[in-house]
Amino acid sequence: MYVLVAGGLVLGALALGETLGWSDAELTLMRANWIGSLPATPSDPTNRVADDPKAVKFGHALFFDARLSVDGTVSCATCHQPASGFADNIPLSEGKGTNTRNAPSIIGSAYSPHQFWDGRADSLWAQALAPLEASAEHATNRMYVTGLIATQYRSSYEGLFGPMPPIANAYTTLPPKPGPFNDPEVQEAWTKLGSEFQDQVNLVFVNAGKAIAAYERQLKPGAARFDEYARTILENGDPSGLLSLNTDETAGLKLFYGRAGCVQCHSGPRFTDDQFHNTGVPANPNVNLPDTGRTQGLEVWSKSAFTCRSAFNDQPSTCNAPTPDQLVDLKVSELGAFKTPSLRNLALTAPYMHAGQFRDLRAVVQHYNRAPKALQGQSELKPLNLTDTEVGQLVAFLETLKSEPNAPLELLRAPK
Ligand code: HEC
Ligand code: HEC
Repeated sequence: MYVLVAGGLVLGALALGETLGWSDAELTLMRANWIGSLPATPSDPTNRVADDPKAVKFGHALFFDARLSVDGTVSCATCHQPASGFADNIPLSEGKGTNTRNAPSIIGSAYSPHQFWDGRADSLWAQALAPLEASAEHATNRMYVTGLIATQYRSSYEGLFGPMPPIANAYTTLPPKPGPFNDPEVQEAWTKLGSEFQDQVNLVFVNAGKAIAAYERQLKPGAARFDEYARTILENGDPSGLLSLNTDETAGLKLFYGRAGCVQCHSGPRFTDDQFHNTGVPANPNVNLPDTGRTQGLEVWSKSAFTCRSAFNDQPSTCNAPTPDQLVDLKVSELGAFKTPSLRNLALTAPYMHAGQFRDLRAVVQHYNRAPKALQGQSELKPLNLTDTEVGQLVAFLETLKSEPNAPLELLRAPK
């Protein structure tokens, strides 16, 4: 069949796909999954420096700077490692302690309307503030970060945001206590500061988050083998592009669209619908408290000082937050639900799921095949009755989604 096409038969736009047995419905799904359908990075009006090259540079430095941790050993890149698809390869991430969740890849996270597995941050800049103050991650606090910026990054900061507020002058050396925000001594220092200085510290802290977000916005997914195959079919390209996938991999793709039903949630160019679903993933036995997923995410979000409802949103009219009534309903209906992750670059980001429950992709697909009952709430899955061969084909397809990130090379390593 390839030969006929290569031989110069004049075919319509979809003819190559039809010749290979793809239905119109499958071709529509394929086009939606194709990287060529990835739109430009959505604007973030809540962050006025989101696309400022100076902010990208500042954020790049902060992302890789381990001085932003209690003892100078942890940076964002400790758990979001460029060589591991900007994730890490352990079930529960390790910073200054052990996390209760697995580190997701942050490639393409600027496209995601909710950050974290439970969506508890509503912007990329608000997300960046949480690990800095968490005892299991950087284990430092906003006062310390303000001091570090005042002493180490003042000109980068002021070049973007204008003069640092008066509190920065109190931090001519690093503040003495770098511990996590929930540390009692840090809390005492924070209370003593009083509301006016607290506001100033919060502003500097948020601006640091906005610079980090500007950097993260530059990390986009690149074309994988799947995309070469899809492009050939969708654009009626050189048939040699069809060799990008072998027969097991195309059989896996067919299952992904068909009997396995994966595309129901893993749709679009990042292979995610950006929604929350309960898929009955078992708990990680090393995590003590039950993880209610979206339910606890909504609770944390509603109490956060750094949401789009706060004064830190640079364009408040864009805030599309649930009302208190909606919040009550969502906490019930989304019990045990987690954010659908992107499937791009899975080959680099094992283990899988919100707490690294599955060591490899075969274990993931077997979970979908069995569709166990959820521990909390209702799983949306149904058993698939796939044979072992079919499970292997799906795994083979998932591995074709590996690619180099689409980002300037110098942003993929620590700045010089
Ligand atoms: C100790 C390891 C660790 C460090 C350090 C760390 N992260 Fe993470 N990161 C994680 C884990 C684990 C999650 C998922 C947590 C959750 O969902 O509850 C996560 C989630 C994220 C997400 C959300 C991605 C998504 O798809 O929802 C982004 C973005 C992110 N981190 C960026 C950062 C930035 C920026 C820094 C530095 C300021 C940072 N991380 C520091 C482990 C880490
Ligand atoms: C009902 C929506 C839904 C369907 C259908 C679905 N997924 Fe998922 N997928 C999710 C959600 C939600 C998660 C995260 C669950 C968690 O961590 O608890 C996930 C996680 C994954 C992961 C782990 C990714 C990572 O980075 O950890 C893989 C791989 C995956 N799904 C592949 C598939 C395959 C293959 C199919 C079809 C057999 C499928 N999914 C069907 C929603 C879905």
